[in-house]
Amino acid sequence: MRTPARGRAGGKVILLGEHVVVYGRPAIATGLPLGLEAEVSAGDGPALASEHDGDPRGADLVRAACAATGLDPARVVVRVRSELPPGRGLGSSAALAVATLRACAAAAGRTLSTDEELALGRRLEGVFHGTPSGIDPAAAALGRCFGFVRGEPPVVTPLAPPAPLPLVVAFGACPRDTGAAVGGLRARWDAEPATYEALFDAVAAVVARGAEALLRGDLTGLGAAFDENQTLLERLGVSSDEIGTLVATARRLGALGAKLTGGGAGGAIIALATDPETLAARLADATGVQALALRVGRAQEVAA
Ligand code: PMV
Repeated sequence: MRTPARGRAGGKVILLGEHVVVYGRPAIATGLPLGLEAEVSAGDGPALASEHDGDPRGADLVRAACAATGLDPARVVVRVRSELPPGRGLGSSAALAVATLRACAAAAGRTLSTDEELALGRRLEGVFHGTPSGIDPAAAALGRCFGFVRGEPPVVTPLAPPAPLPLVVAFGACPRDTGAAVGGLRARWDAEPATYEALFDAVAAVVARGAEALLRGDLTGLGAAFDENQTLLERLGVSSDEIGTLVATARRLGALGAKLTGGGAGGAIIALATDPETLAARLADATGVQALALRVGRAQEVAA
């Protein structure tokens, strides 16, 4: 085993299509220029030192990463340094899974192909989440903007905007609960499948328009797609009063479009803005929330 060995992976935001992606419709996500680093050293393993300390799933993750890369888990200790706030919908679990996988592969003297990382990252993220769509580990593995349709395997299509996308990510005070939001929507879909299938199709059409705007570098068109997607997310019942207020405030302060991102029902919003630093500062002032200004979407902007 070659130690110390390091691996990095980035977080993610879903730009368009969360929730409907669970029902086979397309979504667009991007990796973030914020990530985490995993370092493998020799020790008494399998062990993971991170914010998951004391969580047995940390050792399960190391065990799974060792199995995937041919290392002896009893000798592997993984230490994690993260720039991603956990539990905020920025894909920290998936980034942890992919970074650990990359560090173990480096320790084993192996280089994984993108396809291997996509498949293994998905399997490893399953240690933390039951059966998610798989969009988070794809973002961690790719680190840039892509279209995603779930499946075995998922269909992942890189989407390169002509320039980095100027984005604000803001976090509400209410803790998010993706499982509850996904379960609630499932119950409503079970009760009224035709209504919800039609809404899912409407989101899919917005995602298609958003993808075209993104590829053209048309921020106004992409912002309009954010707004239309948010209206449909509200009709799906996965938004919240807090998100509604944040989105409305971001628009009032000049955002080109704004919507929830990820599971919803609390958690984070994204807003497209020509000057994301100014919007982030104004949004934080106006609402008291934490807001980050980021430029996302292209491989070279992703530090992880
Ligand atoms: O809450 P997050 O950021 O992990 O995103 C959940 C995205 C959903 O589409 C709601 C669920 C999924 O598995 O894709």
